[in-house]
Amino acid sequence: MNIITTIEEMQQAAVSLKREGKTIALVPTMGFLHEGHASLLREGRRQGDILVLSIFVNPIQFGQNEDLGRYPRDMERDCRVAAECGADIVFTPDAAGMYPAGFQTSVAVADLSLPLCGASRPGHFDGVATVVTKLFNICQPDVALFGAKDYQQLAVIRRMTRDLNLPVRIVGMPIVREQDGLAMSSRNSYLSLEQRRSALRLSRAIRLVRELYGAGTRDVASLRRAALELIEAEPALTVDYLDFRDGATLELRDTADDATLMALAVKVGNTRLIDNTVLGEELQPCRELC
Ligand code: PAJ
Repeated sequence: MNIITTIEEMQQAAVSLKREGKTIALVPTMGFLHEGHASLLREGRRQGDILVLSIFVNPIQFGQNEDLGRYPRDMERDCRVAAECGADIVFTPDAAGMYPAGFQTSVAVADLSLPLCGASRPGHFDGVATVVTKLFNICQPDVALFGAKDYQQLAVIRRMTRDLNLPVRIVGMPIVREQDGLAMSSRNSYLSLEQRRSALRLSRAIRLVRELYGAGTRDVASLRRAALELIEAEPALTVDYLDFRDGATLELRDTADDATLMALAVKVGNTRLIDNTVLGEELQPCRELC
């Protein structure tokens, strides 16, 4: 496994691999890898001749008062996980290389970036779209893999790729959960044991709504009320949003159907957690089974 830290070296490696006729699969991450990232890497291993993992904690997608400074990092462990998952290249640029003095270009996906996390984190998706465009240009992937854990991010990237005719196939992968249902996230490492227990209510709310939907409830107000009651009964949790939206356009829905996305963001202390489900899609089994 080759560890590449400069943009020039990565771009040259990608160009010469492409010239040899090799296909490249890219898994962009911010590191501190967990089983969710590993699932993308394993699928990427199947989808391309060369598997590239990028690790870059992208400063321009963090807001002023967010956790850029304390975002968890462990390069040694990440490289071990990458090797186990069959990565050929780990690309870890630094911020000065990615955003040299004078940098002033941004990629913005207008409507899809506005609601949900875009409303609570203004500018976040411009930061994501910009860095992913740069990573695509540097790593030249034929295929890039993203998790449905960040549903809106996946929607933004799919839209951007289509709108800008980027020659990359975007593959979305299901949410990987802990045994008890908590969606895996690098940010789960911020949680105390007590907070970790409270956080279980996000996935419990999702299961409850799916049960109600399965039993025939279509009225979004009722589904939403049931989910909010479950979450707000735990004083340690503060709901940022809990929305039912069309899974493709992200427009608000009053009536639920199989294509409806339930998406939520909840704060546990200083930690903001997100989770989601599409009502008509099968819930993936948790790591063992919840
Ligand atoms: P990061 O949070 O490190 O996530 C990297 C990728 O792993 C994303 O596509 C994310 O959706 C996926 N992922 C995270 N948790 C997952 C889970 N529990 N199940 C399945 N997939 C999961 O998302 C980012 O980094 C950044 O915004 C990035 C795209 C790298 C741009 O900076």
